[in-house]
Amino acid sequence: MIELEQLYRSVANCTDCGLCGTRTQAVPGEGPPDADVMFVGEGPGFHEDQQARPFVGPAGKLLEELLGSAGLRRSDVYITNVVKCRPPNNRDPLPAEIEACRKYLRLQIEKIDPKLIVTLGRYSLAWFFPRDSISKVHGHLRRQNGMHYLHMYHPAAALHAGNLRKTIEDDFRRIPQALEKIRRVEQPVAVPEPAPDQMRLF
Ligand code: URA
Ligand code: SF4
Repeated sequence: MIELEQLYRSVANCTDCGLCGTRTQAVPGEGPPDADVMFVGEGPGFHEDQQARPFVGPAGKLLEELLGSAGLRRSDVYITNVVKCRPPNNRDPLPAEIEACRKYLRLQIEKIDPKLIVTLGRYSLAWFFPRDSISKVHGHLRRQNGMHYLHMYHPAAALHAGNLRKTIEDDFRRIPQALEKIRRVEQPVAVPEPAPDQMRLF
């Protein structure tokens, strides 16, 4: 399997979709290679495109506060996006761009092998669960094919819609509880119960 550094170089030089023509720099993602928790956002914005780092603008500031409320530090978690290059004027990423970029996030998940993937916003949710609606599944912990997922609204949505702020805060505070639950699931008791492959845990 390719190394993360190699993947970062491939992303930095990638020309596999039209976003390569308008980006300043690609934003592969960052964090410890052995992180337990991986956050997946939508795509770089203005500040991310300038600095080649994910979540460093206003949404990033809120993300750091939310991480704090969940007892996590930014330096402990892995942070990346569905698309690695900024869509012009922060428009939504197009289906063809998301598909062209899919291989990179797939490799990051394989490489980091987190215990928990936290999706931020509807594009990230749709990357994993295309049929689900964020308003129905936010705050839910679930397992599919051995991976655990927790779904959140996007922090930028809370910056624009004040009424979402409390919802996002409540959902982030469920992360420690989710990790605790995952640890228990992963340490089977003497007679493990068979678990269905896909289930909602809370
Ligand atoms: N919004 C995102 O979805 N990702 C970033 O990296 C920054 C803002
Ligand atoms: Fe390549 Fe992804 Fe950037 Fe498109 S968004 S150019 S696929 S790295």
